[in-house]
Amino acid sequence: MERVKDKVVVITGAGSGLGKADALRLSEEGAKLVLTDINEVEGRRTGEECEGEAIFFAQDVKDESSWPRLIETTIAAFGRLDVLVNNAGNSHIANIESASTDQWHDILRVHLDGTFFGCRSAIPEMTKSGGGSIINMSSVAALVGLSPYLAYSAAKGGIRSMTKSIAIYCREQKNLIRCNSIHPGSISTPMVHAALETLSGIHLMEEEDPEATRKALGIGEPLDVANMVLFLASDESKHINGAELVIDNGATVGLMSR
Ligand SMILES: NC(=O)c1ccc[n+]([C@@H]2O[C@H](COP(=O)([O-])OP(=O)(O)OC[C@H]3O[C@@H](n4cnc5c(N)ncnc54)[C@H](O)[C@@H]3O)[C@@H](O)[C@H]2O)c1
Repeated sequence: MERVKDKVVVITGAGSGLGKADALRLSEEGAKLVLTDINEVEGRRTGEECEGEAIFFAQDVKDESSWPRLIETTIAAFGRLDVLVNNAGNSHIANIESASTDQWHDILRVHLDGTFFGCRSAIPEMTKSGGGSIINMSSVAALVGLSPYLAYSAAKGGIRSMTKSIAIYCREQKNLIRCNSIHPGSISTPMVHAALETLSGIHLMEEEDPEATRKALGIGEPLDVANMVLFLASDESKHINGAELVIDNGATVGLMSR
């Protein structure tokens, strides 16, 4: 299958979890990848595991000056930019009473500043390339209240609204750029494993049968999200713009469900 053949795709936070799964899935389908992460070792490792062409660019997404350099690197390597996946993210477990000002600012800078810088940097190059797809990683935290994730919820809610604003701007500009947000529920990644340990005392990967426990807890797999990223990156989604795509096996639509 070559659903994104020769599309040039930038993925932030590609060293782990969802970003890594996105990279591997898009690579299988023919994309040319520019992978970024603050963790150089793991980011480079993802690139080495990809089937097709992939380069790595060390980046902290909240560093505004990194973005023009990333775009220049992408154009120098592949000559165009078709898709940006704003995936990099972190989390602090802190509620409205326990959250420190530093934690608040850190989360807003990584998620909101990072996504803003990414979208703003990508649009001129995508316009030159004749259009494109921006995929912003939000969360179900943007749709419902998560008490232990105060700043994270605020940041993901901001990404949801920012995405719609960008989508309608691009429609007005007729630049053929689409911008959509993805809202995963709990997916089995290092970020969620750490949260499970802290909040529930569950060490998922040390369970006798981690897969059975994952399913019992209603936790999805990174590939569940990567397949949606693939769809949004491909031309199959050409009429989808400003949408919020929830991937949580129904967790947020029912009361009292786990
Ligand atoms: N796993 C889930 O259940 C889930 C649910 C909803 C949303 N998300 C979102 O998906 C994205 C990926 O999460 P994950 O679960 O794969 O987490 P993860 O911790 O496994 O991976 C996050 C990656 O982002 C990188 N990163 C962190 N801060 C960075 C920065 N400032 N600049 C560049 N890279 C940075 C990390 O080094 C890491 O490689 C995040 O935006 C997260 O909020 C995850």
